[in-house]
Amino acid sequence: MSNLHRFAVVTGASSGIGDAYAERMAERGYDLILVARRRDRLEDVAKRIKIKTNRAVEIVTADLSDANDLLRIEALLTEREDIDVLINNAGLGALGPTSKVAADALENLIRINILALTRLTRAVLPGFLRRNTGTIINIASMIAVMPTPSGAGYSGSKAYVLNFTRSLQMELAKTNIVVQAVLPGPVRTEFFEASGLTAAPFPNELFMSAEQLVDTALQALAQGELVCFPSLENASLWTDLENARIALSRALMQSGSPATRYSEKAL
Ligand SMILES: NC(=O)c1ccc[n+]([C@@H]2O[C@H](COP(=O)([O-])OP(=O)(O)OC[C@H]3O[C@@H](n4cnc5c(N)ncnc54)[C@H](OP(=O)(O)O)[C@@H]3O)[C@@H](O)[C@H]2O)c1
Repeated sequence: MSNLHRFAVVTGASSGIGDAYAERMAERGYDLILVARRRDRLEDVAKRIKIKTNRAVEIVTADLSDANDLLRIEALLTEREDIDVLINNAGLGALGPTSKVAADALENLIRINILALTRLTRAVLPGFLRRNTGTIINIASMIAVMPTPSGAGYSGSKAYVLNFTRSLQMELAKTNIVVQAVLPGPVRTEFFEASGLTAAPFPNELFMSAEQLVDTALQALAQGELVCFPSLENASLWTDLENARIALSRALMQSGSPATRYSEKAL
């Protein structure tokens, strides 16, 4: 990542993980564009970071579930030539049994976790490709590989983020554009509150701080680790899963005929 008078855009920068990314990117010399809905919270984050790092910090309020606001942020990403990093962090959980979560809450989750992340990524790509440089960090969740009965929409949305990111990595393999998926476990933020739970469904010892998470993910990025499970000690578990997936992919490509176990007529 080159950072000479370059901007990093952080969505969901008004709290938690986005706030921590903003601070760490400014400490690395980036100027910032911070996006979220709550202007007062963005102003607090911007003020603190400016004092601490002396970097330029721009605030753009936007509701990423709103089509017009999303178009406005896409236009900003498309038009500016000085953006080097996009951190797609804004997200929420809409947790609970699917029959009990409001349909509108699920749609909102899809708009932010999937649609906004996809459109914003799409918006930076032409400029990144023209300049043959750029970094996209997509915040997924460990839940992407842990389907759960209390967060079907959330798990599905983060599995999308993982697959979207992996496919982009392949697509951009011959460029200098780097795309990382970060899959945190529980992190101490406003997330569970914002996702409709009164208490987090994990014991305290499973949580890390937002700063620990971001430091770990940025260290992984520096090491070229483009799928980062921040607390996974035995990294070969991910490699094993990947190898199994590759074996399945190969097997899926071997025939266009129905598998023999389906050949018996049903009743
Ligand atoms: N905390 C965890 O345990 C955990 C674990 C794995 C993954 N994650 C992921 O980490 C990311 C950040 O979450 P967090 O833990 O830092 O939670 P958080 O403190 O609740 O932060 C969520 C951020 O998203 C923004 N946001 C939500 N709805 C938005 C909208 N409609 N338009 C624009 N911005 C919106 C919020 O800003 P405004 O409310 O000001 O708009 C806020 O800045 C999410 O993608 C989440 O899925 C979190």
